[in-house]
Amino acid sequence: MYLGVEINSMKLLVCGKGGSGKSTLTALIAKSLAKRGYKVLVVDGDESNLSLHRLLGVEKPKELKDLFGSRKEIFEKAKNLELRRIKDIPKEFVVAKDGIMLVCIGKIHSFGEGCACPMGALLREFLKGLKLDQNEFVVVDSEAGIEHFGRGVEEGCDAIVVVLDPTYESKIMADRIKAMNVEKPIYFVLNKFDERFGDLLKDLDAVVKIPFREEIFISCLKGEELKCEVDEIDRLVDVILNQKQA
Ligand SMILES: Nc1ncnc2c1ncn2[C@@H]1O[C@H](COP(=O)(O)OP(=O)(O)OP(=O)(O)O)[C@@H](O)[C@H]1O
Ligand SMILES: [Mg+2]
Repeated sequence: MYLGVEINSMKLLVCGKGGSGKSTLTALIAKSLAKRGYKVLVVDGDESNLSLHRLLGVEKPKELKDLFGSRKEIFEKAKNLELRRIKDIPKEFVVAKDGIMLVCIGKIHSFGEGCACPMGALLREFLKGLKLDQNEFVVVDSEAGIEHFGRGVEEGCDAIVVVLDPTYESKIMADRIKAMNVEKPIYFVLNKFDERFGDLLKDLDAVVKIPFREEIFISCLKGEELKCEVDEIDRLVDVILNQKQA
């Protein structure tokens, strides 16, 4: 399907199995969108990992969950969150650089703190309530796995990028997601692609294949801002903006 109209605002959920490259691709997609002049809000929806901000070259923002006094309060009040527009988010919860803003839903900081359900609920309500103006994009980095579908996080998003890596687990995950019949555009991306195993991966119908690139790996390992140009990411963003189906 090709609608012939370029999308100019969208909430995009990036999901996939652990370590497949969700955070890396979130940062690269955000940068590709910002380069085109869009205003981009990256939402760190992963309650465990701590380094997404580094990939964007910014400091860690204050966590949105601190708007509430307790876990119980998050469940009770997240539905009434008055953050309807990006500009409504209080400045102290946003860090920004080069046209990209970052907000963080909340992390689990200490042992015994409890499960991540309040953060899941807050992420869902935040995304559902957020209305975008023209030229605004939201890119959501999520925790590993596909539990967000069960928690309704995808409800507040317009499209989903599923990051697959060359593993059997990713093949199973792709099949599981397809079987869910989610009524939103889903873009499968094969990350860390290696030609040598192309034959084994031919059943994974991905919109783009992103090769394993040493430059990306080293940058992430050093906890540095991702500055490399990745043509495949630009192609992916083109496909998403034009709502072409894989
Ligand atoms: N195209 C790529 N080329 C080389 N290395 C990559 C590529 N994509 C991701 N990586 C590396 O894979 C590792 C995992 O990436 P990343 O942290 O983005 O995955 P993730 O899916 O967000 O993980 P988690 O589930 O832990 O949040 C990192 O070391 C990163 O540098
Ligand atoms: Mg991650």
